[in-house]
Amino acid sequence: MLLDQQFLFTPGPTPVPNRVYHAMNQPMIGHRGNAFPKLLEDVSTRLMPVFGSLLPVLVIAGSGTSALETAVSNVVEENDEVVVIVTGAFGDRLASICEAFGANVHRLNIEWGKTCSPDQLEDYLKSLQKNVKAVFATYCETSTGVLNPILELGKVTKQSTDALFVVDGVSCIGAVPVEMEEWGIDILVSGSQKALMLPPGLAFVAISERARETIEKCQSKRFYLDLNKYLSSYEKEKSTPFTPAVSLIYGAQEVCQMIEEEGFHNVIKRHQVLKDMVRVGLEAIELPLLVSDSEASPTVTAVKTADDSSKQIKKMLQDKFAITLGGGQKRLKGEIFRIGHMGYCTPFDVLKILSSIEMTLHELDRKQVLGVATKRAQEVWLQNV
Ligand SMILES: Cc1ncc(COP(=O)(O)O)c(C=O)c1O
Repeated sequence: MLLDQQFLFTPGPTPVPNRVYHAMNQPMIGHRGNAFPKLLEDVSTRLMPVFGSLLPVLVIAGSGTSALETAVSNVVEENDEVVVIVTGAFGDRLASICEAFGANVHRLNIEWGKTCSPDQLEDYLKSLQKNVKAVFATYCETSTGVLNPILELGKVTKQSTDALFVVDGVSCIGAVPVEMEEWGIDILVSGSQKALMLPPGLAFVAISERARETIEKCQSKRFYLDLNKYLSSYEKEKSTPFTPAVSLIYGAQEVCQMIEEEGFHNVIKRHQVLKDMVRVGLEAIELPLLVSDSEASPTVTAVKTADDSSKQIKKMLQDKFAITLGGGQKRLKGEIFRIGHMGYCTPFDVLKILSSIEMTLHELDRKQVLGVATKRAQEVWLQNV
């Protein structure tokens, strides 16, 4: 085997296209010179349709968690009442960040592997009887592979409260539809290393006008992640308050170009096809899926495994076929493995993953599965060509 051909199918980081690597290789520029403002403005405005944002998207040097912390620290003050919808490990992380900033956190805990329904949120908000400052939700809960119904949850939040609606879109923005204004989203954050086809290191924050007012008034202690600084720097000089990750922002410019060339609606459709191919393929070889079709994300699929076999399957895929998948997190550790199929991912990649899983099961369990998953997936692809 060619050992340099490694196939990264974790739910982040994800493969980076060659043309994005090339774009990142451009000579360094100073962020107080003439070139950087043009670059940042170009990226911040071209990302607006991808985030469904009416305002330019703010860019911060940091991982996805810094985007979550930005969302929390710019609106949450000590003793504020906040609701966090927890559908898995990343909802749990959002709740922990809110706690770190001194909020009274009300966790709406949902069984892992399920989405939060609008009724569940409505009932919870009614029963809580608190003046809630913000409701936090995770769009794609990467640890389980559910895609929460953000449009409906946003509606319920707006109908039942005056709260801001804050959404973690780290593992799906760039692959799914979203409209901040229409869906009632006040803050939408994401990271670079998932559907946005970049290496790790950029955090993206989109805000509504309403969120902006809260951010201006918010008294919480923050410095590097103070959005007022990013807003003022962007508005005055189209720059960032601190040294930006210039190379990654060049990469983001190329990503915008790629999304525009394919057409964002086609990007969304491609992810639907990838999801369907993965799911029918795995079902054809009787691998149980953690999430139902209607609740599943188009970016990541979690597969349940018996005993400790997820470790064995992952190891064999890695050692024999150079395919890296994700494992289970927290309470799902050892119980699932996860396939990332987002960003720079094609139907051919899905066939590669499925055929390697077939060969792995054939070797491990002597199961007669060769060609079974791939055939079903090919049929789905053909229906969509
Ligand atoms: C939904 C979600 N939120 C937040 C994060 C945290 O991002 P990072 O690991 O870049 O800090 C992740 C990372 O996997 C994620 O999937």
